[in-house]
Amino acid sequence: MLQVITHVPAKINVVLSVGPARSDGYHELATVFHAVSLYDEVVATPAAGLSLVVDGPYADATPADETNLAARAARALAKHAGVAADVALRVRKAIPVAAGLAGGSADAAGALLACNELWRLGLSDAKLAAVAATLGSDVPFALHGGTAVGAGRGERLRSVDVGATLHWVLAVADGELATPAVYKRLDALRSGQRIRRPRVSRDLLTALGAADVDALAAEMGNDLQEAAIQLRPSLAEVLRAGRDLGALGGIVSGSGPTCVFLARDAKHSAEVAAELAATGSCADALAVTGPAAVGPPTA
Ligand code: C5P
Repeated sequence: MLQVITHVPAKINVVLSVGPARSDGYHELATVFHAVSLYDEVVATPAAGLSLVVDGPYADATPADETNLAARAARALAKHAGVAADVALRVRKAIPVAAGLAGGSADAAGALLACNELWRLGLSDAKLAAVAATLGSDVPFALHGGTAVGAGRGERLRSVDVGATLHWVLAVADGELATPAVYKRLDALRSGQRIRRPRVSRDLLTALGAADVDALAAEMGNDLQEAAIQLRPSLAEVLRAGRDLGALGGIVSGSGPTCVFLARDAKHSAEVAAELAATGSCADALAVTGPAAVGPPTA
C-alpha cells in the first residue's frame, strides 16, 4: 500500500533575541534557528477520514487526538487545497515534548509534506510555508530545516550558511515548560524596562559561516533563559554542569527546559554528553549535529 514517510528534525535557537510584546500577544523575534539530527518520523497512509497514532519514546507525553499539531496540519492543508482530510497519520516521537525543541512543529511540518505528496497537491514550498505559519511560529522553520534567521514572530525566514557540521549536546530535562508561561515570565521580568528591538549580530552570522566554534560560543544567547530558569531553577545547575565539563557554550534551547551545549568536534560532544548524563543533572544527554535537513517525503 502507498505510504509517504518524512523525517523532520528538532531545532535549537543559537540566539533568541526577544522584543516587546505585540498587540496580537506575540513577541517580535530575531533568532537563528538551527535544525539538529534528532528526528520525528511522520508516515501518511491513505484512509477514509483522518486518524492519528503516536508511538516512539515520547508517545506518552503527546496528545493523539485532534489537538495534535500533525492532525491540525493535515486538516489545515486539506482545507487550503479544498480536498477531504483522508489520511492515517503515524508519528514516531523521538523529540521530547514541550522541551524548546519545536517537536510539535516538526510533526506539523512532516504532516504537511507527507499529505502534500499523498494527496498529490503539488503545493510549492511558499504555499506550504503559508499554511505552516497559521499552525505556529516555529512550523515554517520546521519545513525549512537547515539554519535560518527568523524574524517577525519567527515565521519570516532567511537561509544562513554554516561552514561545517557543528556538534552539540542536548541536555533533555524531565518534564515540560509551557512556551506561553515562559514568555509571560519574561514580560514580568522586564516590566517597566525599555525593551530594545531584537537583533541577530553580524558576528554571529560570520562565526556560523566560518564554523568558528569559539566565536560562535561567545555569541550564543537566549533572552528567554532567565525566565525559564526562574520557572525551573534546576536549569542553572544543568548549564553550570555543561560548562564545567568543558562545553564551549551553553544556553537554554528556545523556551526550555532543554539546554544546548556547543562542542568542539564529534569526540568532544560524545564525551560531554556521556559525562553530563552521568552527573544526573538532566534526564538524558544526546550528542547531535547540525545543520540537519528535513527528510524529503519518500513513498
Ligand atoms: O506560535 P506558537 O503557537 O508556537 O506560540 C505559542 C505561544 O508562545 C504564543 O501563544 C505566545 O504566548 C508565545 N510566543 C510569543 N512570541 C512569539 C512566539 C510565541 O509570545 N514570537
